Amino acid sequence: MVAIDGPAGAGKSTVARMLAARLGVPYIDTGAMYRAVGLLTMRAGIEPPFDEEDEARLEALAREHQIELVPDPAGVRVLVDGEDVSEAIRSPEAAAMASEVSAVPAVRRALVPLQRAMATASGGVMEGRDIGSVVLPDADLKVFLTATPSVRAMRRYEDLQRRGIETTLETVREEQARRDLRDTTRRDSPLMVAPGAWVLDSSDIGPEAVVDRIVARLEEIGAGRLTFPMGEP
Ligand code: DC
Repeated sequence: MVAIDGPAGAGKSTVARMLAARLGVPYIDTGAMYRAVGLLTMRAGIEPPFDEEDEARLEALAREHQIELVPDPAGVRVLVDGEDVSEAIRSPEAAAMASEVSAVPAVRRALVPLQRAMATASGGVMEGRDIGSVVLPDADLKVFLTATPSVRAMRRYEDLQRRGIETTLETVREEQARRDLRDTTRRDSPLMVAPGAWVLDSSDIGPEAVVDRIVARLEEIGAGRLTFPMGEP
C-alpha cells in the first residue's frame, strides 16, 4: 500500500490517481467518503455546530447508507445507495460540510474500518489526511504531499474555474485557511506528518514529476509487489 496524505490543494488526488494508474493498482479516495457523508448530512438538514444528538445522527448516516467507490477511467465514481453522487460531492458546500463531519469522531469510527477493509481487499494507493498516521500505519510507503498555501489556493481556484464553479481567489484562500485550521487542529486524527512519512513539496514541480519521484522511491525500497493487486504473484 502507498499512503498519500497532505492538505487540500497539494495535488494529492491527481498524484494518487496517476500513481495508481502507473502501478496498475486501485486508487482509494477516502476524502470522497467523508464528502458523501457530508452530502447526506446536508440532505438531512443537519447543520454545524453539531451537538451530541446531531453526532449520533451523523454516525447513523455513515453506517446505514452504502458508500461505494467504483473504479472509473477518470478516477473513481462515488455511489451512495447506488446513486452516483460524484459531481454533487465536489461543490464548495459539500467540501466545507465534509470538513465539518470529518471532525466528528463517530463518523471516523464508522469510515476507518471500511477503508482498512478496502486496503486489505485490493491494496493500492490510498489518499486522505490520516492514512499514514491512523488508517494504514504499516503502509509500504507513506507520503506527505504538501505545497505553499498560495500555490494550493491557486490550484484549487483553477480547478473550480475549470468546472464552471464561480468564486474568487480570495474566497478560495479564506475557505482553505479555515479548512486547514479545522483539519490540523481537530482532536481526532488531525492532519499531521505520520511517523516515517516522506515529506514531498510539490510547489515547484508538476504531478508527473511527483509521480516519477514516488515510483523511484518505491523501486528503491523494493516495494515491487505494489505493482500487483493483492492476491496475485
Ligand atoms: O481530500 P478531500 O478534500 O476530498 O477531503 C474532504 C474532507 O475530508 C477534508 O476536509 C478532509 C477530510 N478527510 C479526512 O478528515 N480524512 C481523510 N482520510 C480524508 C479526508
